[in-house]
Amino acid sequence: MKRAILSDIHGNLEALEAVLEDISNKDDIDKIYCLGDVIGYGPNPRECLDLVRNFDLCILGNHDQAALFDPEGFSHGAEQAIFWTRNQLEANPDKDAKVSERWEYLCHLPRTHLEGDFMFVHGSARNPLNEYVFPEDVHNPKKLEKIFALVPKYCFQGHTHVPGVFVDGGKFKSPVQLVGQRYEFTPEKIMVNVGSVGQPRDGDPRSSYLILEDDSLEFCRVQYDVQKTVDKIFATDELNDSQGHRLLDGK
Ligand SMILES: [Fe+2]
Repeated sequence: MKRAILSDIHGNLEALEAVLEDISNKDDIDKIYCLGDVIGYGPNPRECLDLVRNFDLCILGNHDQAALFDPEGFSHGAEQAIFWTRNQLEANPDKDAKVSERWEYLCHLPRTHLEGDFMFVHGSARNPLNEYVFPEDVHNPKKLEKIFALVPKYCFQGHTHVPGVFVDGGKFKSPVQLVGQRYEFTPEKIMVNVGSVGQPRDGDPRSSYLILEDDSLEFCRVQYDVQKTVDKIFATDELNDSQGHRLLDGK
């Protein structure tokens, strides 16, 4: 089976549409999964949610949860964006049933999903909603050891917006090292960060996602109209300009 796995769309419609077009140009993608944070930061939460509602799976992200309840531990800019996002989800310009459908959809998103040896979360196997696993955590082997103990064999996650593969035993492989090649699974457990569609933070502004097959994976990067998204952010008072600048830098 071939699954496209994406994460951290954050209300960036231009990025999501470009990624979905890239996926539609690939052969035989059976399923599309999202690992959370469909909304928050970006200017098109409603439109992004409506596209993701057609996916085969979506996991709850911390920003999705913050829109439902209250943001905890968020920076001022992220918190402001969540309150604005909530207002956008409450608005009903088309006077249709989508407002309640979107809230209903968010309310029912799972925190984890298991398919045999494959686990899907937003943050980590230990704390599916909120734990960050950064590349520098390879220098904290105890942390990785404890998380790996909870991974069946393969864990797919997002949250940091930094794509790459953590191999049990301490190595981290960035997609730059994996460019143009498939990553074939080995007997070791792995945790895979799929990167971010709508707000990449590895210095490459292109959207990140991956194609997962039964025994291998392949990272993909997709160019989109970043300036169009940035202009929408600049035109919205409640969204901090820094959220636009970071899209241009990919940070
Ligand atoms: Fe995120």
